[in-house]
Amino acid sequence: MAGTESIEVDPALLKSDCDSDYASSGYNTESTSLSSTVNEYIFENGRRYHAYYGTDKNLLPTDEAEKDRMDLHHEIMIQLLDGELHKAPLPPDVHNILDVGTGTGIWAIDMADKYPSAQVLGIDLSPLQPKWVPPNCKFEVDDAELEWTYRSDYFSFIHFRNVAQGITKWRQVLAEAYRCTKRGGYVELSESGAMLYSDDDSLAPENPARRWGELMTEAMAKSGRTAPVDGHLSERLEKAGFVDIKSFAIKQPFGPWAKDKKLKKLGMMLLLQGEQGFHSYGMMAFTRMLKMDPKEADTLCRAAIAATKNKKTHAYAIHYVAYGRKPEAEE
Ligand SMILES: C[S@@+](CC[C@H](N)C(=O)[O-])C[C@H]1O[C@@H](n2cnc3c(N)ncnc32)[C@H](O)[C@@H]1O
Repeated sequence: MAGTESIEVDPALLKSDCDSDYASSGYNTESTSLSSTVNEYIFENGRRYHAYYGTDKNLLPTDEAEKDRMDLHHEIMIQLLDGELHKAPLPPDVHNILDVGTGTGIWAIDMADKYPSAQVLGIDLSPLQPKWVPPNCKFEVDDAELEWTYRSDYFSFIHFRNVAQGITKWRQVLAEAYRCTKRGGYVELSESGAMLYSDDDSLAPENPARRWGELMTEAMAKSGRTAPVDGHLSERLEKAGFVDIKSFAIKQPFGPWAKDKKLKKLGMMLLLQGEQGFHSYGMMAFTRMLKMDPKEADTLCRAAIAATKNKKTHAYAIHYVAYGRKPEAEE
């Protein structure tokens, strides 16, 4: 596993008035703007959710605030992968690409721009994608847990990113992905873990951000979704038949507490993303899966956001990436 070293805390932050939040150090998130039947909605927790595939299918809202969050998270993901859109070693003339759970379609659009030779298809439970897209990119509303209708050996690359909250049948989904990947092609799984950690014990057991992660993991497990931890993704790929599997665990700091410049910027972006993210992920999971009172769930999500803004807390989550190759027939 790469990327599991401790992140060094910025000594300048330690020296300053530590009980206040980042706003006092010039890191103000408040003033920053984030940036038929398939359209049937339900409204819950003050948020809008698509209901076409059932209300318990996807835990995330599909309103404008969530779309902004997803787009910001896309930028975070690119920073995490050192400016890249994927880890798998694709040839420059890669052909058919599938993005499963494409969300706003931002990754698929970037891939279509980056690889003009490719036809990129993004599928999602909800039609959240824009109409004006590159000519080699298109979107369809579909549930990846249903039988796949694509030809066998068709895609050069199949990509799943942050879809764990909507998939219970990973074995079945990856069996389909294996069948539909061409020989020599790749499947990449890329998932942020739900748990928060600290290397210096600054995230105490009773810290609301830590509690949020524990409850999120519990809620996901209760509904048959597994929050990814070390080794999960590569194990899934291996069981499906992929070879040459490579996996990475990358720390994502919440807040600009790291000394390293790149991590500091990333931490700021994650803090901003978390302002929506804790609520987006938490509300449906806590109220439906754990039967928590909506007010209590809302209070916990808000407390988790506030906790990550405390300069004394050096919390991080882990983003896991694994990719594998479908072997050639003779291998
Ligand atoms: C957190 S968003 C991530 C979007 C995108 N992959 C990204 O990284 O920007 C998760 C998306 O996966 C979609 N999703 C979840 N389960 C799915 C399923 N079974 N089939 C298709 N899409 C799914 C959701 O509708 C949502 O738009």
